[in-house]
Amino acid sequence: VPTAGFIGWRGMVGSVLMQRMQDEGDFDLINPVFFSTSNAGGAAPSFASGAGELQNAYDIETLAKLPIIVTAQGGGYTSEVYPKLRDAGWNGLWIDAASTLRMEQDSIIVLDPVNRDVIDAGLAHGVKNFVGGNCTVSCMLMGLGGLFRNGLVEWGTSMTYQAASGGGARHMRELLNQFGSLNSVVADQLADPASAILDIDRAVLAQQKNPAMDSSQFGVPLAGSVIPWIDADLGNGQSREEWKAGAETNKILGRDTAGRIPFDGLCVRIGAMRSHSQALTLKLTEDLTVAEIERIIDADNEWAKVVPNTKEASMAELTPVAVSGTLDIPVGRIRKLEMGPEYISAFTIGDQLLWGAAEPLRRMLRIATG
Ligand code: HSE
Repeated sequence: VPTAGFIGWRGMVGSVLMQRMQDEGDFDLINPVFFSTSNAGGAAPSFASGAGELQNAYDIETLAKLPIIVTAQGGGYTSEVYPKLRDAGWNGLWIDAASTLRMEQDSIIVLDPVNRDVIDAGLAHGVKNFVGGNCTVSCMLMGLGGLFRNGLVEWGTSMTYQAASGGGARHMRELLNQFGSLNSVVADQLADPASAILDIDRAVLAQQKNPAMDSSQFGVPLAGSVIPWIDADLGNGQSREEWKAGAETNKILGRDTAGRIPFDGLCVRIGAMRSHSQALTLKLTEDLTVAEIERIIDADNEWAKVVPNTKEASMAELTPVAVSGTLDIPVGRIRKLEMGPEYISAFTIGDQLLWGAAEPLRRMLRIATG
């Protein structure tokens, strides 16, 4: 049984990863060693019996004994520890949720239902770094992979509706506190059906603009608003999140050097909790019927599911609330646009902690140990 070390297993992504590994019986197939950045010597988690005590996550010598390291500790940890490990001659597999090493030439972005061929070729050629993709990119390709993999997309644009969880656990708490704070300033008026809605609206806006309402994580209020910028400003009008959409999509598909598919759009934060949604416009390379498009999407992998383009089905099945906590990637609102027979719209959603973060890493560990 191969040994694998885990760092960052207690954070939000790490906790989802640990839960999924337990659900799928993955701990029967590996011998886990748990690390901590703050509590070395403490007890290892109870779900993996015999894992002993927590090891020091900064101890290069201990880390370097492991054939596989899985980290969800974040980019800061990767930047600090990874180069030291390689400098020490470590030759093991590094499986990472952070974006730090994602676009490096010697890294593969893992999303095996979409790029198992790229992963297998990498393993055969001695690639050692396998990194989870950006959440919106992974969820989009899980849904629309059939069209991309069959060479049917000439170009695409995505307008995203990204959940608070993409920022982290503190961002989710801040959003809920803001919702609560907005409700509390108008609770009495809401309870009175005779109160004037414009008075309520004015009070809510005043509270949103009240510096006393905490918006330190997002920088500006998100509850009852949207924020049309995610991640760093690259200085060319594009956000880093938007740059990742094109760069990572093509890298996952193995098209980063040749046959690049132009893919770009705007990334927007909204007040959803943990599932990212995105509206897509695709120009296809052929005039396919909607039925054919739906068949290709549905057939690509067992998680992509076409939602009929009706009001009823879209409202019932195509929302973050319907998707969160599941591995399903619904794809709906598929129709031909007025621009011409090759132009289609689609709307897709994925739980950004599952397919967007933990699941590709869990599956990569299986591939690596299989
Ligand atoms: N950058 C993403 C977000 C996190 O902020 O929503 C998942 O990669």
